[in-house]
Amino acid sequence: MENDKKWIADTIDKIVSKISWVSEKSKNKIPYTTVEGVHDNRLDSTVAWTPDNGRNWWTNGFFAGMMWQMYVATDDKKYIDIARFSEEQLDQCFDDFYGINHDAGFMWLPTAVADYRLTGNEASKRRGLHAANLLAGRFNPAGDFIRAWNDFGDGRDTKGWAIIDCLMNIPLLYWADKELKDCRYYNVATKHADTAKKYFVRNDGSVNHIVEFNPQTGEYIGSHGGQGYGHGSSWTRGQAWAIYGFALSFRHTSNKEYLDAAKRVAHYFIANIPESGLIPVDFRQPETPEIEDSTAAAIAACGLLEVASHVGEYEVAVYEVAAKKLLRTLSEKRCNFGPDNDCILENCTASYDEKQHEYNIIYGDYFYMEGMFRLNGKWADIW
Ligand code: GLY
Repeated sequence: MENDKKWIADTIDKIVSKISWVSEKSKNKIPYTTVEGVHDNRLDSTVAWTPDNGRNWWTNGFFAGMMWQMYVATDDKKYIDIARFSEEQLDQCFDDFYGINHDAGFMWLPTAVADYRLTGNEASKRRGLHAANLLAGRFNPAGDFIRAWNDFGDGRDTKGWAIIDCLMNIPLLYWADKELKDCRYYNVATKHADTAKKYFVRNDGSVNHIVEFNPQTGEYIGSHGGQGYGHGSSWTRGQAWAIYGFALSFRHTSNKEYLDAAKRVAHYFIANIPESGLIPVDFRQPETPEIEDSTAAAIAACGLLEVASHVGEYEVAVYEVAAKKLLRTLSEKRCNFGPDNDCILENCTASYDEKQHEYNIIYGDYFYMEGMFRLNGKWADIW
Protein backbone atom coordinates (compact mmCIF):
# COMPACT_ATOMS: atom_id res chain seq x y z
CA MET A 1 0.00 0.00 0.00
CA GLU A 2 2.75 2.47 1.02
CA ASN A 3 4.64 1.44 -2.08
CA ASP A 4 1.51 2.16 -4.18
CA LYS A 5 1.12 5.60 -2.63
CA LYS A 6 4.67 6.56 -3.52
CA TRP A 7 4.58 5.55 -7.19
CA ILE A 8 1.15 7.13 -7.60
CA ALA A 9 2.31 10.44 -6.04
CA ASP A 10 5.60 10.43 -8.00
CA THR A 11 3.80 9.66 -11.25
CA ILE A 12 1.18 12.37 -10.69
CA ASP A 13 4.04 14.87 -10.21
CA LYS A 14 5.58 13.77 -13.51
CA ILE A 15 2.25 14.03 -15.38
CA VAL A 16 1.45 17.47 -13.95
CA SER A 17 4.88 18.82 -14.71
CA LYS A 18 4.81 17.50 -18.30
CA ILE A 19 1.28 18.59 -19.16
CA SER A 20 1.87 22.07 -17.72
CA TRP A 21 4.30 22.89 -20.57
CA VAL A 22 2.62 20.70 -23.22
CA SER A 23 -0.68 22.52 -22.60
CA GLU A 24 0.96 25.93 -23.26
CA LYS A 25 2.77 24.67 -26.32
CA SER A 26 -0.36 23.09 -27.87
CA LYS A 27 -2.98 25.53 -26.63
CA ASN A 28 -4.04 26.50 -30.16
CA LYS A 29 -4.24 22.93 -31.44
CA ILE A 30 -6.51 19.92 -31.26
CA PRO A 31 -3.92 17.12 -31.32
CA TYR A 32 -4.42 13.48 -32.28
CA THR A 33 -0.85 12.19 -32.52
CA THR A 34 2.69 13.49 -32.87
CA VAL A 35 4.89 14.10 -35.88
CA GLU A 36 8.57 13.84 -34.92
CA GLY A 37 7.56 14.32 -31.31
CA VAL A 38 5.39 17.41 -31.90
CA HIS A 39 1.60 17.39 -31.52
CA ASP A 40 -0.20 17.48 -34.87
CA ASN A 41 -3.31 19.64 -35.22
CA ARG A 42 -6.64 18.31 -36.50
CA LEU A 43 -7.59 21.90 -37.42
CA ASP A 44 -4.71 22.03 -39.88
CA SER A 45 -6.02 20.62 -43.15
CA THR A 46 -2.53 19.57 -44.25
CA VAL A 47 -2.43 16.84 -41.60
CA ALA A 48 -6.05 15.74 -41.94
CA TRP A 49 -6.12 12.47 -43.87
CA THR A 50 -9.69 12.98 -45.07
CA PRO A 51 -12.25 15.71 -44.31
CA ASP A 52 -13.78 13.59 -41.53
CA ASN A 53 -10.39 13.17 -39.90
CA GLY A 54 -9.96 16.91 -39.40
CA ARG A 55 -12.26 19.02 -37.26
CA ASN A 56 -14.84 16.21 -37.07
CA TRP A 57 -12.36 13.56 -35.98
CA TRP A 58 -13.79 11.46 -33.13
CA THR A 59 -10.86 12.06 -30.77
CA ASN A 60 -11.12 15.86 -30.82
CA GLY A 61 -12.53 16.07 -27.28
CA PHE A 62 -9.64 14.34 -25.52
CA PHE A 63 -7.07 17.15 -25.35
CA ALA A 64 -9.74 19.28 -23.66
CA GLY A 65 -10.49 16.30 -21.38
CA MET A 66 -6.82 16.28 -20.35
CA MET A 67 -7.11 20.00 -19.56
CA TRP A 68 -10.17 19.41 -17.34
CA GLN A 69 -8.28 16.64 -15.54
CA MET A 70 -5.42 19.10 -14.97
CA TYR A 71 -7.80 21.82 -13.79
CA VAL A 72 -9.29 19.53 -11.16
CA ALA A 73 -5.86 18.21 -10.13
CA THR A 74 -4.19 21.62 -9.83
CA ASP A 75 -6.97 24.25 -9.50
CA ASP A 76 -5.08 26.28 -12.12
CA LYS A 77 -7.61 28.24 -14.18
CA LYS A 78 -5.35 28.43 -17.23
CA TYR A 79 -6.58 24.94 -18.09
CA ILE A 80 -10.17 26.20 -18.43
CA ASP A 81 -9.15 28.55 -21.26
CA ILE A 82 -7.15 25.87 -23.05
CA ALA A 83 -10.01 23.36 -22.76
CA ARG A 84 -12.44 25.95 -24.13
CA PHE A 85 -10.36 26.38 -27.28
CA SER A 86 -11.28 22.82 -28.39
CA GLU A 87 -14.88 23.21 -27.23
CA GLU A 88 -15.38 26.36 -29.31
CA GLN A 89 -13.63 24.92 -32.37
CA LEU A 90 -16.04 21.99 -32.35
CA ASP A 91 -19.02 24.32 -32.90
CA GLN A 92 -18.29 24.22 -36.61
CA CYS A 93 -18.96 20.45 -36.57
CA PHE A 94 -22.60 21.22 -35.77
CA ASP A 95 -22.76 23.36 -38.93
CA ASP A 96 -20.90 20.75 -41.01
CA PHE A 97 -23.28 18.04 -39.66
CA TYR A 98 -22.20 15.30 -42.10
CA GLY A 99 -19.08 14.46 -40.09
CA ILE A 100 -20.99 13.78 -36.88
CA ASN A 101 -21.66 10.17 -35.92
CA HIS A 102 -22.13 8.10 -32.74
CA ASP A 103 -18.87 9.56 -31.41
CA ALA A 104 -20.76 12.70 -30.30
CA GLY A 105 -20.22 11.52 -26.72
CA PHE A 106 -16.46 11.25 -27.13
CA MET A 107 -16.42 14.74 -28.67
CA TRP A 108 -18.75 16.66 -26.36
CA LEU A 109 -18.54 14.92 -22.96
CA PRO A 110 -14.88 15.87 -22.36
CA THR A 111 -15.46 19.38 -23.79
CA ALA A 112 -18.86 21.07 -23.38
CA VAL A 113 -20.39 18.76 -20.75
CA ALA A 114 -17.22 18.80 -18.63
CA ASP A 115 -17.18 22.61 -18.86
CA TYR A 116 -20.83 22.86 -17.81
CA ARG A 117 -20.39 20.40 -14.95
CA LEU A 118 -17.27 22.15 -13.62
CA THR A 119 -18.10 25.81 -14.26
CA GLY A 120 -21.86 26.00 -14.94
CA ASN A 121 -21.22 27.61 -18.37
CA GLU A 122 -24.66 27.88 -20.03
CA ALA A 123 -23.26 27.96 -23.58
CA SER A 124 -21.60 24.62 -22.83
CA LYS A 125 -24.86 23.13 -21.61
CA ARG A 126 -26.53 24.15 -24.88
CA ARG A 127 -23.73 22.53 -26.88
CA GLY A 128 -23.99 19.33 -24.83
CA LEU A 129 -27.74 19.09 -25.28
CA HIS A 130 -27.45 19.74 -29.01
CA ALA A 131 -24.91 16.92 -29.27
CA ALA A 132 -27.16 14.62 -27.21
CA ASN A 133 -30.02 15.22 -29.63
CA LEU A 134 -27.80 14.38 -32.58
CA LEU A 135 -26.72 11.16 -30.86
CA ALA A 136 -30.29 10.20 -29.91
CA GLY A 137 -31.34 10.86 -33.52
CA ARG A 138 -29.13 7.97 -34.63
CA PHE A 139 -31.25 5.47 -32.71
CA ASN A 140 -32.99 2.85 -34.84
CA PRO A 141 -36.13 1.48 -33.09
CA ALA A 142 -36.06 -1.53 -35.41
CA GLY A 143 -33.24 -3.37 -33.65
CA ASP A 144 -32.93 -0.92 -30.72
CA PHE A 145 -29.43 0.26 -31.54
CA ILE A 146 -27.62 3.52 -32.18
CA ARG A 147 -26.13 3.58 -35.66
CA ALA A 148 -22.34 3.79 -35.40
CA TRP A 149 -20.62 5.37 -38.39
CA ASN A 150 -21.93 7.11 -41.47
CA ASP A 151 -21.16 5.41 -44.78
CA PHE A 152 -17.41 5.42 -45.49
CA GLY A 153 -17.85 6.17 -49.20
CA ASP A 154 -16.24 2.84 -50.15
CA GLY A 155 -19.44 0.97 -51.00
CA ARG A 156 -20.03 -0.58 -47.57
CA ASP A 157 -23.54 0.05 -46.25
CA THR A 158 -23.21 0.83 -42.53
CA LYS A 159 -26.84 1.75 -41.79
CA GLY A 160 -27.31 -1.42 -39.73
CA TRP A 161 -23.97 -1.28 -37.88
CA ALA A 162 -23.65 -0.88 -34.13
CA ILE A 163 -20.26 -0.96 -32.37
CA ILE A 164 -19.12 -1.72 -28.83
CA ASP A 165 -17.36 1.66 -28.49
CA CYS A 166 -20.78 3.38 -28.45
CA LEU A 167 -21.29 2.30 -24.83
CA MET A 168 -18.86 5.11 -23.96
CA ASN A 169 -20.95 7.65 -25.90
CA ILE A 170 -24.32 6.98 -24.27
CA PRO A 171 -23.37 8.70 -20.99
CA LEU A 172 -24.11 11.86 -23.01
CA LEU A 173 -27.74 10.65 -23.11
CA TYR A 174 -27.79 9.79 -19.39
CA TRP A 175 -26.57 13.33 -18.72
CA ALA A 176 -29.24 14.90 -20.99
CA ASP A 177 -31.92 12.80 -19.27
CA LYS A 178 -30.89 14.18 -15.88
CA GLU A 179 -30.56 17.78 -17.13
CA LEU A 180 -33.91 17.87 -18.92
CA LYS A 181 -35.78 15.28 -16.85
CA ASP A 182 -36.88 13.87 -20.19
CA CYS A 183 -36.77 10.09 -20.19
CA ARG A 184 -36.48 9.80 -23.99
CA TYR A 185 -32.70 10.04 -23.64
CA TYR A 186 -32.58 7.41 -20.90
CA ASN A 187 -34.78 5.08 -22.96
CA VAL A 188 -32.56 5.36 -26.04
CA ALA A 189 -29.43 4.78 -23.94
CA THR A 190 -30.77 1.74 -22.09
CA LYS A 191 -32.26 0.15 -25.19
CA HIS A 192 -28.89 0.45 -26.91
CA ALA A 193 -27.09 -0.93 -23.83
CA ASP A 194 -29.54 -3.87 -23.70
CA THR A 195 -28.84 -4.62 -27.36
CA ALA A 196 -25.09 -4.49 -26.70
CA LYS A 197 -25.50 -6.85 -23.74
CA LYS A 198 -27.49 -9.31 -25.83
CA TYR A 199 -25.57 -9.31 -29.11
CA PHE A 200 -22.00 -8.22 -28.36
CA VAL A 201 -20.97 -10.20 -25.26
CA ARG A 202 -19.88 -13.74 -26.12
CA ASN A 203 -20.12 -16.77 -23.84
CA ASP A 204 -16.48 -16.52 -22.80
CA GLY A 205 -16.85 -12.87 -21.76
CA SER A 206 -15.11 -11.41 -24.82
CA VAL A 207 -16.99 -8.98 -27.06
CA ASN A 208 -17.53 -8.36 -30.77
CA HIS A 209 -16.49 -5.02 -32.18
CA ILE A 210 -19.19 -4.59 -34.85
CA VAL A 211 -22.66 -6.16 -34.99
CA GLU A 212 -24.89 -5.68 -38.02
CA PHE A 213 -28.69 -5.61 -37.99
CA ASN A 214 -31.15 -5.27 -40.83
CA PRO A 215 -31.95 -1.55 -40.51
CA GLN A 216 -35.53 -2.05 -41.77
CA THR A 217 -36.56 -5.05 -39.64
CA GLY A 218 -33.99 -5.01 -36.84
CA GLU A 219 -33.13 -8.66 -37.54
CA TYR A 220 -29.63 -9.71 -36.40
CA ILE A 221 -27.39 -10.29 -39.41
CA GLY A 222 -23.97 -11.07 -37.92
CA SER A 223 -20.73 -9.61 -36.61
CA HIS A 224 -17.68 -8.07 -38.28
CA GLY A 225 -14.06 -8.12 -37.14
CA GLY A 226 -13.57 -4.34 -37.09
CA GLN A 227 -10.33 -2.91 -35.74
CA GLY A 228 -9.03 -6.16 -34.23
CA TYR A 229 -7.19 -9.07 -35.88
CA GLY A 230 -10.20 -10.52 -37.66
CA HIS A 231 -13.68 -11.94 -37.45
CA GLY A 232 -14.29 -13.62 -34.08
CA SER A 233 -11.10 -12.19 -32.59
CA SER A 234 -10.82 -10.06 -29.49
CA TRP A 235 -9.80 -6.44 -30.12
CA THR A 236 -8.44 -5.32 -26.78
CA ARG A 237 -9.61 -1.71 -26.96
CA GLY A 238 -13.11 -2.99 -27.73
CA GLN A 239 -12.96 -5.21 -24.63
CA ALA A 240 -11.87 -2.13 -22.64
CA TRP A 241 -14.73 0.02 -24.00
CA ALA A 242 -17.13 -2.76 -22.96
CA ILE A 243 -15.82 -2.97 -19.38
CA TYR A 244 -15.97 0.78 -18.86
CA GLY A 245 -19.15 1.32 -20.89
CA PHE A 246 -21.26 -1.36 -19.16
CA ALA A 247 -20.00 -0.19 -15.76
CA LEU A 248 -21.08 3.37 -16.62
CA SER A 249 -24.52 2.18 -17.70
CA PHE A 250 -24.78 0.55 -14.27
CA ARG A 251 -23.67 3.78 -12.59
CA HIS A 252 -26.37 5.78 -14.42
CA THR A 253 -29.23 3.27 -14.14
CA SER A 254 -28.52 1.00 -11.11
CA ASN A 255 -29.50 -1.94 -13.38
CA LYS A 256 -27.32 -4.75 -12.04
CA GLU A 257 -27.39 -6.61 -15.36
CA TYR A 258 -25.02 -3.96 -16.75
CA LEU A 259 -22.62 -4.40 -13.84
CA ASP A 260 -22.72 -8.17 -14.37
CA ALA A 261 -21.89 -7.64 -18.06
CA ALA A 262 -19.00 -5.31 -17.13
CA LYS A 263 -17.68 -7.92 -14.68
CA ARG A 264 -17.87 -10.75 -17.22
CA VAL A 265 -15.82 -8.78 -19.75
CA ALA A 266 -13.47 -7.64 -16.95
CA HIS A 267 -12.83 -11.24 -15.87
CA TYR A 268 -12.08 -12.22 -19.46
CA PHE A 269 -9.72 -9.23 -19.82
CA ILE A 270 -7.92 -9.85 -16.51
CA ALA A 271 -7.44 -13.54 -17.35
CA ASN A 272 -5.73 -12.52 -20.60
CA ILE A 273 -3.34 -9.86 -19.28
CA PRO A 274 0.13 -11.16 -20.18
CA GLU A 275 2.77 -11.55 -17.46
CA SER A 276 4.49 -8.44 -18.83
CA GLY A 277 1.37 -6.34 -18.20
CA LEU A 278 1.65 -5.00 -21.78
CA ILE A 279 -1.52 -5.33 -23.83
CA PRO A 280 -1.58 -6.53 -27.46
CA VAL A 281 -3.92 -5.01 -30.06
CA ASP A 282 -5.94 -8.22 -30.03
CA PHE A 283 -5.90 -11.04 -27.49
CA ARG A 284 -6.21 -13.47 -30.43
CA GLN A 285 -3.58 -11.99 -32.76
CA PRO A 286 -0.72 -14.23 -33.97
CA GLU A 287 2.39 -14.34 -31.73
CA THR A 288 4.33 -12.35 -34.30
CA PRO A 289 4.40 -9.50 -35.01
CA GLU A 290 3.97 -8.50 -31.37
CA ILE A 291 1.85 -5.39 -31.82
CA GLU A 292 0.85 -3.52 -28.70
CA ASP A 293 -1.87 -1.05 -27.85
CA SER A 294 -1.22 0.97 -24.71
CA THR A 295 -4.56 2.76 -25.12
CA ALA A 296 -6.35 -0.53 -24.43
CA ALA A 297 -4.39 -0.92 -21.20
CA ALA A 298 -5.21 2.63 -20.06
CA ILE A 299 -8.93 2.40 -20.94
CA ALA A 300 -9.27 -1.04 -19.36
CA ALA A 301 -7.63 0.29 -16.18
CA CYS A 302 -10.20 3.11 -15.99
CA GLY A 303 -13.01 0.63 -16.60
CA LEU A 304 -11.71 -1.73 -13.93
CA LEU A 305 -11.53 1.16 -11.45
CA GLU A 306 -15.14 2.03 -12.34
CA VAL A 307 -16.20 -1.59 -11.70
CA ALA A 308 -14.24 -1.55 -8.42
CA SER A 309 -16.21 1.49 -7.30
CA HIS A 310 -19.48 -0.49 -7.51
CA VAL A 311 -18.58 -3.81 -5.87
CA GLY A 312 -18.36 -4.94 -2.27
CA GLU A 313 -15.23 -5.19 -0.12
CA TYR A 314 -14.61 -8.87 -0.94
CA GLU A 315 -14.47 -8.26 -4.69
CA VAL A 316 -12.86 -4.87 -4.98
CA ALA A 317 -9.25 -6.11 -4.95
CA VAL A 318 -9.80 -8.22 -8.09
CA TYR A 319 -10.42 -5.11 -10.17
CA GLU A 320 -8.15 -2.67 -8.34
CA VAL A 321 -5.09 -4.92 -8.41
CA ALA A 322 -5.48 -5.49 -12.15
CA ALA A 323 -6.02 -1.77 -12.84
CA LYS A 324 -2.91 -0.88 -10.84
CA LYS A 325 -0.85 -3.51 -12.65
CA LEU A 326 -1.88 -2.02 -16.02
CA LEU A 327 -1.21 1.58 -14.98
CA ARG A 328 2.05 0.78 -13.22
CA THR A 329 3.32 -1.16 -16.23
CA LEU A 330 2.47 1.79 -18.48
CA SER A 331 4.13 4.22 -16.04
CA GLU A 332 7.34 2.21 -15.87
CA LYS A 333 7.63 0.95 -19.44
CA ARG A 334 5.51 3.01 -21.82
CA CYS A 335 5.59 6.61 -20.65
CA ASN A 336 7.74 9.43 -21.89
CA PHE A 337 7.78 12.22 -19.32
CA GLY A 338 10.65 14.00 -21.04
CA PRO A 339 10.74 17.17 -23.16
CA ASP A 340 11.38 15.44 -26.51
CA ASN A 341 7.76 14.42 -27.19
CA ASP A 342 4.45 16.25 -26.66
CA CYS A 343 2.66 12.98 -25.79
CA ILE A 344 3.20 10.76 -22.76
CA LEU A 345 2.02 7.30 -23.76
CA GLU A 346 3.97 5.19 -26.26
CA ASN A 347 3.02 2.14 -28.34
CA CYS A 348 -0.60 3.06 -29.03
CA THR A 349 -2.29 1.42 -32.01
CA ALA A 350 -5.56 2.51 -33.61
CA SER A 351 -6.26 -0.66 -35.55
CA TYR A 352 -4.59 -4.01 -36.30
CA ASP A 353 -4.91 -3.52 -40.08
CA GLU A 354 -3.53 -0.01 -40.14
CA LYS A 355 -0.11 0.34 -41.80
CA GLN A 356 1.32 2.26 -38.84
CA HIS A 357 1.40 0.74 -35.34
CA GLU A 358 2.73 1.74 -31.91
CA TYR A 359 2.76 5.53 -31.96
CA ASN A 360 1.37 8.33 -29.78
CA ILE A 361 -2.43 8.75 -29.65
CA ILE A 362 -4.14 11.48 -27.67
CA TYR A 363 -6.82 9.31 -26.05
CA GLY A 364 -4.04 7.09 -24.73
CA ASP A 365 -2.71 10.09 -22.82
CA TYR A 366 -6.24 11.06 -21.75
CA PHE A 367 -7.17 7.66 -20.26
CA TYR A 368 -3.73 7.15 -18.74
CA MET A 369 -4.14 10.50 -16.96
CA GLU A 370 -7.71 9.73 -15.93
CA GLY A 371 -6.60 6.37 -14.49
CA MET A 372 -3.71 7.87 -12.54
CA PHE A 373 -5.78 10.80 -11.28
CA ARG A 374 -8.50 8.35 -10.21
CA LEU A 375 -5.94 6.39 -8.22
CA ASN A 376 -4.89 9.66 -6.61
CA GLY A 377 -8.51 10.47 -5.69
CA LYS A 378 -8.71 13.87 -7.44
CA TRP A 379 -10.09 13.60 -10.96
CA ALA A 380 -12.66 15.12 -13.31
CA ASP A 381 -15.54 12.72 -13.84
CA ILE A 382 -16.22 13.13 -17.54
CA TRP A 383 -18.59 10.20 -18.00
N1 GLY B 1 -13.81 4.43 -31.01
C1 GLY B 1 -12.88 4.13 -32.02
C2 GLY B 1 -11.69 3.43 -31.53
O1 GLY B 1 -11.62 3.01 -30.39
O2 GLY B 1 -10.76 3.32 -32.31
